[in-house]
Amino acid sequence: MERKKIVIASDHAGYFLKEKIKKFLAGDKYELKDLGCCSDETVDYPDFGHALARAVAAGEYELGISICGTGNGINMTVNKHPGIRSALCWNEEISRLARAHNDANICALPGRFISESEAYLIVRTFLTTDFEGGRHQPRIGKISLKLY
Ligand code: RB5
Repeated sequence: MERKKIVIASDHAGYFLKEKIKKFLAGDKYELKDLGCCSDETVDYPDFGHALARAVAAGEYELGISICGTGNGINMTVNKHPGIRSALCWNEEISRLARAHNDANICALPGRFISESEAYLIVRTFLTTDFEGGRHQPRIGKISLKLY
């Protein structure tokens, strides 16, 4: 079975949770690429968010996971990239709906506001839920701004 290609990145506020998620996802199911950061030393979340968004938008990875303290900064950053639909996910149901209804391709986690076990549920749900299509397809088609 082909392994799903996943990419993950965080700032310092998400560093420890990122390391735990990497262990949680370790195994045969996913091929996981870590784009940093590499310690809990202060960094700027856009530096890691942009790298993650570029990798997903280029089609190198199917889905991405991003983490900062609130999830907001890195979520705002990645959503600047065409082709990225990133959803701030703070519980399992939001995560499920982000995939099923919004076809989100990046899951943004608020590392300072969710527990380790909540993060695992959110991530597992995000990676295993399919987009429902149907009525949601034209809606996501209207998200991107077209320049006339
Ligand atoms: C870092 O202190 C914090 O501001 C950052 O992780 C994030 O929460 C920003 O949105």
